[in-house]
Amino acid sequence: MLSGKNILLGITGGIAAYKAAYLVRLFVKEGANVKVVMTPSAKQFIAPLTLATLAKNPVLTEFYNPENGDWNSHVSLGLWADAMVIAPATANTIGKMANGIADNLLVTSYLSAKCPVFIAPAMDLDMYAHPATQHNLATLRSFGNIIIDADSGELASGLIGKGRMAEPEQIASTIANHFAKQQTLAGKTILVTAGPTYEKIDPVRFIGNYSSGKMGFAIANEAASRGAKVILISGTSQQKISNPSVVRIDVESAQQMFNTCMEHFANCDAAILSAAVADYRPAVVAEQKMKKTEQSLTLQLEPNPDIAASLGKIKKQKQALVGFALETENGLANAQSKLEKKNLDFIVLNQANVEGSGFVCDTNKVTIIQRSGKKIEYEQKSKQLVAADILDQITETLSTI
Ligand code: PMT
Repeated sequence: MLSGKNILLGITGGIAAYKAAYLVRLFVKEGANVKVVMTPSAKQFIAPLTLATLAKNPVLTEFYNPENGDWNSHVSLGLWADAMVIAPATANTIGKMANGIADNLLVTSYLSAKCPVFIAPAMDLDMYAHPATQHNLATLRSFGNIIIDADSGELASGLIGKGRMAEPEQIASTIANHFAKQQTLAGKTILVTAGPTYEKIDPVRFIGNYSSGKMGFAIANEAASRGAKVILISGTSQQKISNPSVVRIDVESAQQMFNTCMEHFANCDAAILSAAVADYRPAVVAEQKMKKTEQSLTLQLEPNPDIAASLGKIKKQKQALVGFALETENGLANAQSKLEKKNLDFIVLNQANVEGSGFVCDTNKVTIIQRSGKKIEYEQKSKQLVAADILDQITETLSTI
């Protein structure tokens, strides 16, 4: 899968830099052309000569080489690459990339790269868990960069925890898989719903839920990276997305999400409905802020339209429709019943009361239930990888309907 591909490997100053030599060997063995760019501190951990010998290309570390007068252009490096891989990526470099800081050849090449960028973080467990690092990683994800999650295990400090760079084989196979899947959804338009809906009670209050939008945004990003045009219809969410193939439409209530889905669905090849849509809304929205009294308060609720069921009714033979089921009990039976009632091609079951699954967290644990009754139970993984599993199933469904 890597034959003839141009890979720009960025190496930063962490102990895992020694594994980069093996990564270069794997890329070269798979037939890739490899250029290496190192930060100044990476040279303290591994000799440029080792990497240049394995890559069969000079290693670049400075903008300007005073010995031969060469100017190393970050722009041409960024444009040359079919993929840029930063492994290991330290907290420092991750912070610079997330904030557009451009003070060395590696980060300027990153800013100039038009290709997919893969980032394999490596650092001590507390640095990895720090909100600043996690915030920066979320920012990089929102740029469409692919984070190859750090592993757990013994770290160079002697501590045990999450922060160890993914093994070179895993990094190489992630990139090979990316090239294998690239453009599998080219020419397709995919509608994705994400986030919560807010149902107004009065001008300052609403009925809502905990959905962050992470699952839906990960699906939108993954679909776009496979060549699809994406219409992302999102309830209120702090998530960011900047992929040019994604058109984001923000809505607030279930009724607005319903109207927007109905407007766009006819032009879509598939819809993936990951939004947590309120089933009910207040029958009357107070015009002024409701005043507190000594009496108990009863809100009259009326049903919202069911977006999934409505799309299920109008869906054409060549359109794929996928829903989610968020359950707290009898997961399989409830998901199966939603699959049938809403006329879905498959449903993604996740449990709200399982740790590392459902709302807000960065991971999910899902079971996909097909119309045929086939069930695929996945292990817990990042929402980015769950999105990839869902898109694999969509690609298969679209090829058979
Ligand atoms: O956003 P995150 O914090 O990352 O969390 C992700 C998630 C938990 C919200 C997501 O993984 C998920 O499970 N989304 C579906 C939540 C939900 O509303 O499930 P449900 O079982 O109530 O609904 C079943 C399906 O019908 C869903 O596809 C839902 O979008 C759809 N639905 C529900 C009600 C309604 N009125 N219209 C709908 O289209």
